[in-house]
Amino acid sequence: MCGIIGYVGSENAVPIIVEGLKKLEYRGYDSAGIAVYGQDGFDLVKQKGRLAALEERLKDRPLTGRLGIGHTRWATHGEPSDINSHPHVGSKGRIAVVHNGVIENYKEIKERLKRKGVSFASQTDSEVIAQLAEYYYDGDLLDAVIKAAGAMEGSYALGFMCLDEPGVLIAIKKDNPLIVGVSEHGRFIASDVPAVLKHTNAVYYLNDKEIAVLTENDARFYNLDREQIQKNIEIVTWSLDSAEKGGWPHFMLKEIMEQPKVLRDTIASAIGNGENKNIIGNLDIARFDKIVITACGSAYNAGVVAKYVFERLCRISVEVELASEFRYKDAIINEKTLVILISQSGETADTIAAMREAKQKGAVTLSIVNVVGSAIAKESDHCLFTLAGPEIAVATTKAFSAQLALLYLLAIRLAVVSGKLTQESERELRSAIAALPDKVTEILERVDFIQKFASNCVGYKSIFFIGRNIDYAIALEGSLKLKEISYIHSEAYAGGELKHGPISLIEENTLVVAISNCQRLYGKIMSNVEQVVSRGAKVLLLCACPNAEETDRLSTFLLPETHELFSPTLSVIVLQLFSYYVAANKGLDIDKPRNLAKSVTVE
Ligand code: F6R
Repeated sequence: MCGIIGYVGSENAVPIIVEGLKKLEYRGYDSAGIAVYGQDGFDLVKQKGRLAALEERLKDRPLTGRLGIGHTRWATHGEPSDINSHPHVGSKGRIAVVHNGVIENYKEIKERLKRKGVSFASQTDSEVIAQLAEYYYDGDLLDAVIKAAGAMEGSYALGFMCLDEPGVLIAIKKDNPLIVGVSEHGRFIASDVPAVLKHTNAVYYLNDKEIAVLTENDARFYNLDREQIQKNIEIVTWSLDSAEKGGWPHFMLKEIMEQPKVLRDTIASAIGNGENKNIIGNLDIARFDKIVITACGSAYNAGVVAKYVFERLCRISVEVELASEFRYKDAIINEKTLVILISQSGETADTIAAMREAKQKGAVTLSIVNVVGSAIAKESDHCLFTLAGPEIAVATTKAFSAQLALLYLLAIRLAVVSGKLTQESERELRSAIAALPDKVTEILERVDFIQKFASNCVGYKSIFFIGRNIDYAIALEGSLKLKEISYIHSEAYAGGELKHGPISLIEENTLVVAISNCQRLYGKIMSNVEQVVSRGAKVLLLCACPNAEETDRLSTFLLPETHELFSPTLSVIVLQLFSYYVAANKGLDIDKPRNLAKSVTVE
């Protein structure tokens, strides 16, 4: 939540920062701002609303400078407004800062500084950082940053400039991501790699409480004791194209369409010669008597799917917990528990906290993460990487599919190692997984049906998703996807639960999306379908049964056949496309749904 960027170098910082902010807008879009070190000191423009509004302002008030910082905001403290936008400058006008995170003790700091005569302009927690740094500043910005860090509690990724130190950009982070990029013409800081990919793929990943001191030709790193530390530069393999829309109307559609490739790459990394294979192969499964999966949002839904797969194949008990609940429940786990953390960003605050809680209790942590260098990737005991490339749309699609693929392959491996599955069955299941990308392509080729069906669904106030067993698990994801981008209320229910309450919500022309890949439960879900149709509902049925009927109240999308346990990978494609086209027909801002941000780095 919130994206920050900074540049110091030989080129004009303004277009570099604005372009970078475009790549970070998924992290928040309540306001945007930029400050540069111009000819006569700081020049600053900040504006409530999307980055486009800032760009408009910059047309009337062009800035130039070779050092600058920028910010795109997801408001936590203080309403979205020009004054609460970043960058914040201290009341002496000497230090400017951009911040991603939350300063938990900002009220105490503010009171303390007010007593010393400092006056505040905004309602944000972030302004105290600029004020604190100015308060401590005594001719040395690094020193002031270290002192300010010592006084702050909470999470932060920060970029600083100081009027007395032209050509110097300083950054520090704690519990929020920050990378340092190095190119021929300068040095960058950014919340995420895509923001700098146009200029460089050579980056340093900052660890907590590490400080970067950057000039046009130099990048030095320090700890809070001001000792210089050595860091290794890493080369990012993500291509610039993967972070561009490339002619698609939305990143979400582009990312849905990329799924066959993402699945192929991710599967190959786990069953070919990729790094994921070594990690899965070396996991000492015999020591575990329980698996706990914890994550948030869609990643949690991937965990619910995985519970069915692990329990069926490995016959081991699996608990799935929302990370925001897990961290506060005093979970019953120990060194015999495998805790699986799932996170696209690897930076979700609740999932990080759950991981730390699990480690502290002695459990073994295995993460499934998309972003290399992220906190969860670095801190978990083992990490499997989804090879989804940068995911820009706020609503996850391709990373979710890649998570599922790794979870299936992990479950199969654990089942073999624990003697629950023969090697022959392993081969069969793996080849079913290897066939998934082509089946996904088959579905994507039938996008017209989904687009047409969705175009008639924009008027619904509420849509229900039902399924049984693993189909229920994927119904959860269908419902989340729809509500977050189309703003239509939706609920997912296990089919058997309908008559225990939710059926009272079914009335004439309610839409129910029913998913039926569990052949053995086909009859059961069809009787749910009959129950809702007889109460006036319209139904979209996703199933692999070629004899499924069609009526004026029942439309069927025939899914390619696959193993029941892997069918969520196919159902979810239809569910993603359905949500996408409903939202597109409503003319909504699909890649940046209201109130949301992609990387939820605050609690
Ligand atoms: C929904 C969505 C969110 C994320 C959730 C966890 O489309 O994208 O629900 O799944 O915020 O994020 P990560 O996976 O980054 O931990």
